[in-house]
Amino acid sequence: MERPIEKIRGYGSAMSPQSIVIAVDGTAASGKGTLAKKLAQHFGFAHLDSGALYRLAAYSVLEAKGDPKNEADALRGAQTIDFNLAGDARIRTDFIGQAASFVAAIPAVRAALLDFQRNFLAHPPGGSPGAVMDGRDIGTVICPGATAKLYVDARPDVRARRRWTELKAMGIRRGEGDLLKELNARDAADKSRPVSPLVQAPDAALLDTSDLGIDAAFAAALALVSAKVESALKDRPRG
Ligand code: C5P
Repeated sequence: MERPIEKIRGYGSAMSPQSIVIAVDGTAASGKGTLAKKLAQHFGFAHLDSGALYRLAAYSVLEAKGDPKNEADALRGAQTIDFNLAGDARIRTDFIGQAASFVAAIPAVRAALLDFQRNFLAHPPGGSPGAVMDGRDIGTVICPGATAKLYVDARPDVRARRRWTELKAMGIRRGEGDLLKELNARDAADKSRPVSPLVQAPDAALLDTSDLGIDAAFAAALALVSAKVESALKDRPRG
């Protein structure tokens, strides 16, 4: 499993202020993370799963016996993220996903994580010419000037089934109906919060992955972003 946050450790080592950015936003379990990773591999770009930051913050709050809805607790969580847990299965549960959604609705938490994300995009680790970041507000708030933007979605029943399959592979048995309810509740909260709500940017291309397997979804994603990315790669200043 890729550990996107570990790449951040290379931050600052390579200066590429003209970096190319692919912003991938979308609903929970829509396939945006997989697509973002594959796009990054394809173009040789760095990748950051911004959802992991909120999950890590939530995990930190819960470990400290704090309340993810409490501003002071949530901010402390965001300030005490343990990046070693970025690839840990413990932050991938739906319980943490829900807690992440609570901390993510608090403006001070988002502000605390803003520079980190923008720095990653401005200076992709490893000297990459670009970065792919997936989340909820990448094309709208974190990087409105992104080179290319995708908004990934799928029917809720399809997303719940994918989540069920993913959890099963992790040895976690959950009812599909419960997962569907949780996904719907989390999406509704993410879309309706006053700060950085999940919304399709006007210039983002919509990709509905409901009826697409991974390969077909990736081909569709590539078709939507490649002209813009290739052109930016060609035009980028060298030297
Ligand atoms: O994408 P993932 O399911 O890991 O995200 C967990 C939660 O973190 C989301 O439900 C959302 O509330 C929050 N999040 C966010 N902004 C992002 C990424 C994630 O608010 N850019």
